[in-house]
Amino acid sequence: MINVTDQHEPIDPRDLRNALGRYPTGVAVITTRAPNGKFEGLTANSLAAVSLAPPLILWSLRREAPSIKSFLAAGTFVVNVLSEEQSHLSDHFAKPSDNKFDRVTFSTGWAGCPVLHESLAVFECDTESTTDGGDHVIFLGRIRRIHHREGSPLIFSGGKYHSDAPLVAKP
Ligand SMILES: Cc1cc2nc3c(=O)[nH]c(=O)nc-3n(C[C@H](O)[C@H](O)[C@H](O)COP(=O)(O)O)c2cc1C
Repeated sequence: MINVTDQHEPIDPRDLRNALGRYPTGVAVITTRAPNGKFEGLTANSLAAVSLAPPLILWSLRREAPSIKSFLAAGTFVVNVLSEEQSHLSDHFAKPSDNKFDRVTFSTGWAGCPVLHESLAVFECDTESTTDGGDHVIFLGRIRRIHHREGSPLIFSGGKYHSDAPLVAKP
């Protein structure tokens, strides 16, 4: 049965998280290079396509995230879309750490941000604008370069990782 919450009741954050978990997403590691040269990266599933012309995407970053100052100052970022073989990278980049890139294979992209090897798709972006998003900051990115390869995406749904399986067409 569908439970429709009264719009005027405060929404329980755990309930909201569970409801949002019903909307499956891909998983990306979003990276940047701070002006002092430090690499930053975090797991994110808030990515959304916005516009084809101009090419724009958006994602949101928690205001309390340790990496937020670097992302705001850098003015550029890379979205690394993970494949189903890369769930370990999703776990790795979702944990705060001072040296997230120590045992990760990557190259640097056109603006010096880390591009993770074997990513399914890569979007190298300049930050077009940032907007208030409540307890998050929304980053709108203008895509400067893209790369992609064949493979299956890592899917996040209901708090768990999944791999995709196309529906078999009915005769
Ligand atoms: C599947 C998944 C998706 C996530 N999506 C986001 C997101 O879109 N935005 C965000 O701020 N944090 C997101 N997180 C949490 C961050 O990855 C986590 O807080 C990370 O430690 C932040 O990096 P930092 O500590 O280096 O700033 C997600 C975590 C997981 C496991």
